[in-house]
This record gives sequence, structure tokens and C-alpha cells, in this order.
Amino acid sequence: MLPVAENTGITRTKDIQTVIHQNDEGSGGGLAKQLGARDLMGFGIGIVIGTGIFVLTGVEAKEHAGPAITVSFLIAGVVAMLAALCYAELAAAVPTAGSSYTYAYTTIGEVFAWVIGWDLILEFALGSATVARGWSGYLQSAIGLPTSMFGEKAPVNVGAIFIVVVLGVIAAVGIRESKWVTNGLVLIKVTITVFVIVAGLFYVKASNLTPFFPESKPDPGAKGGIAQPLWQWATGASPTAYGVAGVLTAAAVVFFAYSGFEAVANLGEETEDPGRDMPRGLIGTLVICTVLYLLVCLVLTAMVDYKTIDASAPISEAFKQVGLDWAATLVSIAAVAGLTSVILVDLVAMGRIGFALCRDGLLPAAVGRVHPKYNTPFRLTIGTTIVVAVISAFVPIDTLAEMVSIGTLFAFVVVAIAVAVLRRTEPKMDRPFKTPQVPLLPIITALACVALMANLAVETWLRFLVWLVVGMAIYSFYGRTHARLAPGREDKVVEALGADDVV
Ligand code: ALA
Repeated sequence: MLPVAENTGITRTKDIQTVIHQNDEGSGGGLAKQLGARDLMGFGIGIVIGTGIFVLTGVEAKEHAGPAITVSFLIAGVVAMLAALCYAELAAAVPTAGSSYTYAYTTIGEVFAWVIGWDLILEFALGSATVARGWSGYLQSAIGLPTSMFGEKAPVNVGAIFIVVVLGVIAAVGIRESKWVTNGLVLIKVTITVFVIVAGLFYVKASNLTPFFPESKPDPGAKGGIAQPLWQWATGASPTAYGVAGVLTAAAVVFFAYSGFEAVANLGEETEDPGRDMPRGLIGTLVICTVLYLLVCLVLTAMVDYKTIDASAPISEAFKQVGLDWAATLVSIAAVAGLTSVILVDLVAMGRIGFALCRDGLLPAAVGRVHPKYNTPFRLTIGTTIVVAVISAFVPIDTLAEMVSIGTLFAFVVVAIAVAVLRRTEPKMDRPFKTPQVPLLPIITALACVALMANLAVETWLRFLVWLVVGMAIYSFYGRTHARLAPGREDKVVEALGADDVV
């Protein structure tokens, strides 16, 4: 039984020990434990390498950073690594399907946990929709499919709907199947990315890398009004391209390329030895992705002059520019495989977050029931697949991508705070992995994330606020009174989950 917290208000917290033992063998209502560190890295790389490196690299090198796009990726990678060090402590100590949502529930209270859970739904749902649109566009340009049904020009993006539905069914059928498909796709993606780096090395021209930091100048493509970044809107600064400011702007945009690694933390309940495997899975994923990203950026900007980089398919077009058309085809295959695995892992993570919310009664518990045969939150995964398919059919890719970034960064801020708070409130908790330099490192992490968020458009902030307001309305009218921690709700939630002995 979950202990009913003494505080019955909206800041009631869950007992951390209960959460830790929530998925002990034989407790029922949990998910099967069958993943190791290598599988976690497979999932991590599966979700991280995608639209960011295959598409955004070109746009940002051309418009904001020049060859110093490598530095932008390095800055974004460092911020992501700081966040990963925070996630690793909590994911190892509190392995649960809800990750940052559950960490918040045990530290700062239910209403904040709900906000994070609601935010993560946004991140993973819109993340899969974003990448599904990228997948559709890439496939369209790679094999010449009709633009009326594939890519950003299609009034109804049939390609995006197709891939979301196919992968949604795979995610609903089982974690084992998702694991096999993901690992296969990741292997293709990483192999071809390494190939790009090695083959590209034969075509590098040092002259393309000078000047490495092109001189700063007014940004001709800058947008005004609520389309401009928050900090510019607030300070009235005029936007510049290249130079230090250009490199920082690009860093905020390419941060999207790292988003998703934290989905690994949602698989805590399905991990054999989370204390050992979670830090390895999270940090290993980021190290591998950062190294690959930096090398791809260097090779790309050394192969072709940044001013002539193609904005929609930069890497494959670079190979075409140096006369290697067959390599361009290989890159297209890697991109399609890469994007496929991102969508799949997003959909799997989405189901796990929803599962955690339902199990706690903040969303209807019956919706989160685990399928007896497939061992997955089947109804949730199918339900969200349908919603994601509809969104991916109509909403433009850039609108979606910025929403994903703001949602991700917001969750990182909360996780950093939770690490510092838990060290004080639960000093004796068993921590198989410890974030170094607490509270300094979490404070720096939170500030760095806020700095990147300030580089996102005012309209993105407004959309995000609307999402949070809708979430608060759901919490006020449903979650607050139906939560498992609310008086008299424990048995009802357990009954609706369909397990007799759920902890
Ligand atoms: N990091 C993922 C990508 O770049 C979301 O597509």
C-alpha cells in the first residue's frame, strides 16, 4: 500500500522508499525487467541521433555559425552532459517509468510532478511528430515521392501518419520487439555515420575551415515580433549572424539534436540493474552522440564551403558536391533509419510516462492498464499514437521542434533542482551514482538550460504556457481529487489498474 502522505494538499509528496520498491519482483502492476546498459545505450542513441544532425547542422552552419557549428554542438553537448549527470543520480537511485516526473513527486510535490509529467507528454508526443515529418520529407527528397503527400508542402502529411502508425503498433506490441527493431536501426545509423566521417576525411579542404569563426554581421534572416528569441524581444537587441552571438544562437537550435537521451531514464523499471546500468546508459549515450556529432560537423564544414551547404539535406548533398553520389545514397538510408528509431523510442517513452501518471491516479488508471500478453501500457500507446499521427499530419516541423526543445529544457531544470533538494531531504538514500559537485553543478545546469530557453522564440514560450494552463485545468478538475495519494483513492486506483497487489 502507498502510504497516504500527511499533507493532503497539492504539494503532497510520495514516499521515496515506496517508489524505489514499486517494481520489486512479484509486486504486480509493473513492467518486465529485461534491459541492460547496452540496450539502454541502443535506446538512447536511437532517440538522440536524428533530425538534429541530419538536418539542423546544415541550416545553422550556413545561417548562424559557419565552420564554428562544431563549437555550437560542443556547447549544446556540454549542457546536455551536465543534465545527464543529474539524471544519472536519480535514475540510478529511483528507477521508475516516470523519471523526472517521479523525482519531482518525491521531492517538490504532486502539483509540480504533474506539471513535469504533462511537460514530458508534450516532449515525447511532439518529438515523435517532429521527426515523423522529417522522415516523410527526407524520404520524399531521397526517392522522389509526391510532395502532395510527403514532406512539409503536403496539406495532409500522409507519410508522417504512415510511419507513426506503423511504429506505434510496434511500440504497443512489446518492449522486446521495440528493442530489436531499435537496436537494428541504431546499428545501421551509427555504421553509416562513422562511414560518413571516414569517407569525408578524404575530401577535406583546410581552406573551407578558415575563417573558423566568420565575422559577425547583422542577421538578414532574423524574424521580428513574437517570432524572435525571448532575450532579444526582452532586451531589444538586434540579431547578428556568425561571431560569438551566432555560435550561441546555433547552440540553442542544435540543442534539439541532443534531446531525447533522458528517455533512457524512463526505462528504469525495465532495467535489470539500474544502479549500474542507468548511469552507463545515460552518460554512454551522450558521449557517443557528442563525439559523432562533433566529427560530422568538422568533416561536413571541411568538405564544403559553409556558404554552399544545402539546408534540407546537408550531409548527402555535401557528398554529391564532391562527386560521391553513392555515398549520398548511403547517407539517405542512414537518415531514414535514424529518424525511424527516434520516432519509435519517443513512442515507447511516451507510453511509459503516461503509465506512471495513470498508476498514480492523475490520469484515469484504467487507461494505463498493462496488457497481460504484451506487458506494455497498450491502451495508452495506441491512444497516443493516434493523437501523434493527427498532429504530425498538420503541424509544421519547426513549430514542433521548438516546442520539443522548450519542454526538454524545462524538464532538465526541474531534474537539476530535484537532485539538490533530494540531497538535503534524503541524505541517507542509497545513491549508486552521485552527481559531482552538488549543489554547484545542478545550479549551473539549471542556469545553462534557462539561458538556452531564452534563445527560443516568444511564440514558443506562449504555446508552452498554454499547454501548462490546460494541464493545470486537468489537474484541478481531475488529478487533484483522483490521485492515488488523495484520501480514499488508493483502493479505487489499484482496482482500475487491474492488479490485486499493486504497491
Ligand atoms: N535528438 C533528436 C533528433 O535530433 C530528437 O532528431
